[in-house]
Amino acid sequence: MAVQVLAIDGPSGSGKGTIARLLAKRLGWHMLDSGALYRLTALAAQRRGIGLDDADAVAKAALALDARFEGEDEARVLLEGEDVTLAIRSEAAGAAASIVAAHPAVRDALLERQRRFAQPPGLVADGRDMGTVVFPDAPVKIYLDASAEVRGERRYKQLKEKGLDANLDQIIEDIRQRDQRDMQRPVAPLKPADDAYVIDSSGLTVEQVLAECLARMGK
Ligand code: DC
Repeated sequence: MAVQVLAIDGPSGSGKGTIARLLAKRLGWHMLDSGALYRLTALAAQRRGIGLDDADAVAKAALALDARFEGEDEARVLLEGEDVTLAIRSEAAGAAASIVAAHPAVRDALLERQRRFAQPPGLVADGRDMGTVVFPDAPVKIYLDASAEVRGERRYKQLKEKGLDANLDQIIEDIRQRDQRDMQRPVAPLKPADDAYVIDSSGLTVEQVLAECLARMGK
């Protein structure tokens, strides 16, 4: 029997990570945090002294990646047995991930691994190219968007809550530049699949977005 896959794509700050996890929980499905795989690949490469621009060497590290997702909601991330859940969330880890994610060889190396997450009863797949490349046959595809201003404000709040210094205008400008880069890159650019349902979460609560997604799934 084919495993059901719900593909959720969108830019960072759109709230898709939160929504994907809540949906996986509610549906009792598995969860693929594909961004974590790019973050782990970058970390594994750095630990081996591999330059992030060395596409072939990073792709080899991606193929050999010893990564596990554990815990009730598969949110605990292990690299070679070591808990790196927090380490891969730093700004530096995100920047490193975006460098390795731009190499076609690295994306190819992670493709089959991502598809293996599709296990019964179903999978919520969170990323940038879930609906376009990794699971093109997913029956329901959501593209979650939000304005740069709203995403910037969310990021600003997160940083402030962590007690970190933050400049809202700078954050919004950075988000605009990252959007530009992600949407214009030649491999797997960030864009909604033709058959994706686009939700703009700017003026919506988490519950409202959840309800829209579930309605799309006929649930
Ligand atoms: O979603 P995230 O911030 O954890 O993603 C980390 C980086 O990986 C980010 O630069 C986008 C990239 N990425 C990607 O290119 N394709 C995916 N399916 C997921 C993430």
